[in-house]
This record gives sequence, C-alpha cells and structure tokens, in this order.
Amino acid sequence: MIKINQKIDKPLDHKTECLILPCAEEKKPSGNLKTIDQALNGAITQAFENKRFEGKPNQTLLLNCSGSLKADNLLLIGLGKTKDATAETFCRASATAAKLAESSNFKSASVDMSCLDTITKGKTGLYGELAGAIAEGAGLALYHFDEYKSRDEKDDPPSRVEKLTLLPASKSRTAAVDKSIARAEKIVSAVYSARDLISHPGNTATPTYLANHARKMARKNKITCKVLDKKEMEKLGMGALLGVSRGSHEPPALIVLEYFGTSKKKAPTVIVGKGVTFDTGGISLKPPASMDEMKMDMSGAATTLATLQAVSSLKLPINVIGIVAAAENMPGGSAIKPGDILKSMSGKTIEVLNTDAEGRLVLADALCYAQRYNPKEVIDLATLTGAVLMALGHQAAAVLGNNPAMIARLKEAGDATGERVWELPLWEEYEKATKSEIADLKNIASPGVGAGTIMGAAFLKPFAGEQPWTHIDIAGTAWGFDKPYTTKGPSGYGVRLLIKYLEQHKR
Ligand code: BES
Ligand code: ZN
Ligand code: ZN
Repeated sequence: MIKINQKIDKPLDHKTECLILPCAEEKKPSGNLKTIDQALNGAITQAFENKRFEGKPNQTLLLNCSGSLKADNLLLIGLGKTKDATAETFCRASATAAKLAESSNFKSASVDMSCLDTITKGKTGLYGELAGAIAEGAGLALYHFDEYKSRDEKDDPPSRVEKLTLLPASKSRTAAVDKSIARAEKIVSAVYSARDLISHPGNTATPTYLANHARKMARKNKITCKVLDKKEMEKLGMGALLGVSRGSHEPPALIVLEYFGTSKKKAPTVIVGKGVTFDTGGISLKPPASMDEMKMDMSGAATTLATLQAVSSLKLPINVIGIVAAAENMPGGSAIKPGDILKSMSGKTIEVLNTDAEGRLVLADALCYAQRYNPKEVIDLATLTGAVLMALGHQAAAVLGNNPAMIARLKEAGDATGERVWELPLWEEYEKATKSEIADLKNIASPGVGAGTIMGAAFLKPFAGEQPWTHIDIAGTAWGFDKPYTTKGPSGYGVRLLIKYLEQHKR
C-alpha cells in the first residue's frame, strides 16, 4: 500500500514529481489556479479556452512544468460543480489522478488541498472527511495483485506510485488531516485484504485457507476467532451447510469472529458472509463459460472478515460478530442431488431442487447460528443470485429485509460511500413460493415465479430471526464494480459501506 503523509507547503514552492491540483468546474482559472497559470504563462487559460480542461468531474490535464514551478509536472483533476462536491467526488477525483500519475511512471505525487478551504467553510468535520476521501481514493485505486506472476530478472518492474503527500493550506488543519489519513489507511488496508482473498483462485482460497486467514487477522487485531469444523457442525445439526460441502474433498468451516468494542452486555451487530470458495453448481453443474469467476463466490466472506478487521483497527465502540459459512460446491460422488432433503440447524427441512442454489443453504445454518448472540441486528452479504445482475447490473447491490429503517440507513451509507444499495420488496407472496410439497422449504421456486434475487432472500427470511435483518446480494458488485477507485476484478464492495453504516449508528 502507498505511504500517505502531509506537509504544509505552498503549491508554487512545493517540490514534487507530480503536483495534483483538484479544480472545480469553471469558465476560466481562478484563485490558486490563476497564480499557477501565471507561472505557466497562461497554459491553463489556454486549456480552458480550447476546452481541453474545464474542471468537469474526473477530467484530467497533465502539464510538464519544470522550469516554471518547483514541481516537475502539474496534474489538474476536475471536481465538477463545487456545490455538488461530496466525499465521493473527492474519492473519485483522487483515484483518477493517482491512476494517471502511476501510468505516467511517477513514483510519488502531492495533492494541493487549498480548494477544500472554500468548500468546507463553516462546515465542521467536512474538511477531515474530504481529506480522508482523497487519501482513500488514491489508496484504493493503486491496488495491485501480482502474487502469481513470476518476474523475469531482466524485466523492468512495473512503475508504482509509492508515496502521496497531502498539502493542507494551513497548520490549523494538520490534526484533522492526520486523523483522516490514519482512518483511510485502515480502511484501504481492509479493502485490500478483501480483494486479495477474492483474487486468490479456488485452489488456494479453500475454506481452510479462509479459516487460517481469519485466525491470523484476529490475532493481529485483538479479535476472538473460533472455527467450527465438520464434526462440530454435525453436532449442531448444520445439515444445510454440510450438505453443500459433501461433494468436495475440501472440509467446510464455520468461522466466527467476535469483536467487543463496548460492554459485552450490549447486543452486537452480526455480519454473516457467504463463503463458497468455488461454485461449480454441484450436480446442477454450471456451464463452462466464465465458471472460473466462481472463485469470487466467497466475496461475502471476504467482506465480512475485512469489515471486522476495519472495525477493530478503527476501534469502533460497538460490538460486532462476524460469521462466515465456508464450503466448496463440487459435484463429487457424495454430492447432494436434486430432490435430496436436508435438515438445517433450525430444524427446518429443505428440499434441494437445484444444487447451484447453494448459497442460501450455507447461509441458512449461519443465520441460525447467529441467533446465539441475541443480535441487535443481522446483516448478511452474499453473491447469491445471477438475477441481481439482470436487475441492477454492476451499479448497486440489492438489499432486502424485514426492517425499513435499517434499509434506509444502509441506503444512506451506500450513497455516502458510492457503494450503493437498492431495495427490492419481500412481500409474503414470495415467501409462500418457497414452501415445498414434501419438506418445509425448497431451495428454488417453481418455474414461472421469477424474481430470482427476491426468492433468494425469501428463502433466507425464516432463518434470520425476528430482530432487524438485511440481506445484501453482492453478486453484481463484488466483481466488475467499475469505479475510479476500483481496479479490474474484485472490488471489496461492502467494507466501506458497512464501516460507514456502523460508524453512523454506533451510539
Ligand atoms: N454463486 C451463484 C450466483 C452468482 C452468479 C454469483 C453470477 C456471481 C455471479 C449462486 O450460487 C447461483 O448459482 N445462483 C443461481 C440460483 C438459481 C439456481 C436459483 C443463479 O443465480 O443462477
Ligand atoms: Zn450456485
Ligand atoms: Zn454460489
């Protein structure tokens, strides 16, 4: 991860390979930009005139300025209209600039933050929030995963930005900026660990690997970690989770993390993650095209583990439990077959009509286990249905649940972080369609019912308990969530959303 620091320095006097200057949308350069424009003999005015740069959102202009400024290069990055500028605006702008700095082979860059002073005037706390967004955006954007690439000694290693310096305009800001940088580093580091876990292929990131990762992470972060193995799950009667893992040689794991940031008497938020480390579909085998992507079917688990990492490193004054249901869905000789009936930990029996609807099976037992904590609320994250891609594409996760206020708060957190959620209804008619002729429930609805994402949530509902519960279907956002601050592949979606959610409602 890049190093982020701060320095009090005037942009004109600051020595750097690349001076990043966030600019609002304007007709011609003003304020700080005007001074720099003069030093550059009107190069910026010219860019405005011929519309090469007008400060439109994420528009960039890279100018070589050696000789005119102390900086070697100037990178203008557009913010759009200042009145619309939010933390997300700065996060995207900073990410865009950081990526361009890296592809231009700069090793370090500095961000002039003088524009923040006008934007945040009279709004306490906003300066720190926007400074944090700048740090977070750059950090998130410069993620790389190259663990499996062997490098030829003769090859040039790829050029990487290693350091980012924030330049607040006055000393009065340094305390706020320090705090924001520290927070951003913790969040970025947690998102990186989620992305790493998802990037690893199925033959590395097995349920056992997830359990070992959780143990190590817990040790570092003063979290308690308990891993239930197959035998312990058998004792608890977790027939649904065990059923899914039966076709695989990889043993399943139920990973439980406990973080207490306040009195243990206070009811915790429980986060439950789907950890199917590879989803072949089982006997209801998936078609070969893009099956490789099903290594990401443990993204809910990755987000759960990373969120606990962030909650603990940020020392949030709340109690949070993370539960990961980890299994591999394979069509081995002992695999469950369409028509098989499983008995879940809750006692409810499930007719498995499609072994590819396995996420709801592993979650059924994990959600039931969550009840042991008498939770204040339960949130589950799962790459549950391909149907969510039909409904929302890669732009938002679907949320469904039993508590409108909770969903409204998640929506708020989603809008603030750019990790958007969108609600789908969970009317009782859908729940009726989960009833089986022969068992209590069936894991897919009859043909013609449609509403794939809703039916997934409707199946989970009876296992989720009476307290507020929200299901987040991240099948469309865990992978291919294309934003300036994401990179190709896994996004780590959900970590920033949940941290924002938990921070806003910590009291
Ligand atoms: N893991 C998949 C869902 C998925 C699809 C995740 C695309 C990421 C991208 C899930 O286990 C699954 O296969 N769901 C089935 C459910 C169906 C059989 C009711 C689906 O969506 O087709
Ligand atoms: Zn599946
Ligand atoms: Zn799956």
